[in-house]
Amino acid sequence: MLSVSSYHYKTGWTNEVFADTTDINPNKSSELSLLMRQMYNHAAEARKAVSEQRTVSYPKTFLNINTAKPTDDKTKNEYYTTFADLYLQTLDSYENATNTNRVKSFNNVVNACLACHSSHCPGPVPKIKRLLIPLD
Ligand code: HEC
Repeated sequence: MLSVSSYHYKTGWTNEVFADTTDINPNKSSELSLLMRQMYNHAAEARKAVSEQRTVSYPKTFLNINTAKPTDDKTKNEYYTTFADLYLQTLDSYENATNTNRVKSFNNVVNACLACHSSHCPGPVPKIKRLLIPLD
């Protein structure tokens, strides 16, 4: 599990320019729920691609993770942004991974999902855990 202490905060990071106004909620799901489903799908696709020694780029809409509205505003605690930025940083490392460290970089992304979920939204944790690639 990635710990928050191993995370180096990226000071130049900003989400303002990425505000996405095309995001409509057809089934009354929150913006954040819809984003999470895309993030899950990306991770599932990336997991498959690892065995083909391929990397799957992530859509830039993922940068909205800090601003997307959750179902309930109280869901986000004071660590939310730290976890969100940690996730974005692991995504960047994953995108730059080579064949030798792709599995590890991928698992780091999933561990960043789990780090936030364990304190914010434990429901999907078992489903997210199944994305991890066992290391031998
Ligand atoms: C910074 C915190 C954070 C990170 C990182 C994070 N999540 Fe979430 N996730 C949440 C919160 C909060 C919700 C609840 C959203 C809501 O109810 O509006 C959620 C909801 C979900 C859901 C349920 C969506 C639905 O159908 O309503 C899934 C599945 C999910 N996340 C998967 C993931 C996966 C996979 C990753 C990593 C690729 C990830 N999450 C990373 C905080 C996070």
